[in-house]
Amino acid sequence: MGKLTDKFAVVTGAGKGIGRAIVERFLEDDVKGVAILEMDIVLGESTAKELDPTGERVIAVKCDVSSQAEVHAAFEQVFAKFGRVDILVNNAGITRDAMFHKMGVDMAKLVMDVHFFGTFYCCQEVIPGMRERAYGKIVNISSVSALGNVGQANYTSAKAAIEGLTRTLALEGGRKNITVNAISPGMIDTDILKTIPEDIMKQKIASVPMQRLGNVSEVASVASFLASDDSSWVTGNVILCCGGQKIKA
Ligand SMILES: NC(=O)c1ccc[n+]([C@@H]2O[C@H](COP(=O)([O-])OP(=O)(O)OC[C@H]3O[C@@H](n4cnc5c(N)ncnc54)[C@H](O)[C@@H]3O)[C@@H](O)[C@H]2O)c1
Repeated sequence: MGKLTDKFAVVTGAGKGIGRAIVERFLEDDVKGVAILEMDIVLGESTAKELDPTGERVIAVKCDVSSQAEVHAAFEQVFAKFGRVDILVNNAGITRDAMFHKMGVDMAKLVMDVHFFGTFYCCQEVIPGMRERAYGKIVNISSVSALGNVGQANYTSAKAAIEGLTRTLALEGGRKNITVNAISPGMIDTDILKTIPEDIMKQKIASVPMQRLGNVSEVASVASFLASDDSSWVTGNVILCCGGQKIKA
């Protein structure tokens, strides 16, 4: 028996990267079912098929999390297949970096819509059922950038908003046995880093005490802890997962 036996989960943006690794880890933890909510449905479906050729435990559902209508329709499909959602991981994300004086409002709105409103809409779909059953685990993927990062006024603001939402939902969900936490990864080796120039990447890695990028599985193991009853007395936290990058003065 694994840590997530009998649990149903949703992981957004899980076609690749950190989200995919979380789905893989949940399967190792014996999750009963997991839905990949993915904007790139071709990618989502191929990932689902690779991880579970039977289609019994892993499903892919097309969903752009920045659209409330798409999120609602996607959760209708998830509820039709699994009946309920015990675990929600809000992971889908993008970057649109630029110095603030060159950042268009459209770039800020898009990043806010995907990260903050995507998280908000998905939480709204699952929290009523979690309250009824008095059980729920919500894991939001933030970033060390929430503390501030040059060239990311949009992204840092969206991630800071997610951290505020995390703490408030933890306060509201406490009596109903719903834990809400966030993971704040440092630099993790995924496609999202590909837009950062090589010289800047080298400087950034040099500033990390562990002197390397993190691996997706190292974020997935924290998600596994927060999604399971191992973390039953942990709520409203933002857990750094960054090789020590943010412990320095
Ligand atoms: N990689 C890092 O260094 C790092 C560090 C801190 C935080 N994060 C966060 O981790 C999360 C995952 O990032 P990643 O590094 O795995 O990126 P990635 O680019 O490898 O994967 C992101 C996934 O999200 C999907 N996606 C994007 N927009 C979407 C939308 N509107 N609706 C649904 N799906 C959408 C993409 O199709 C893709 O499959 C993001 O929230 C990101 O901000 C990443």
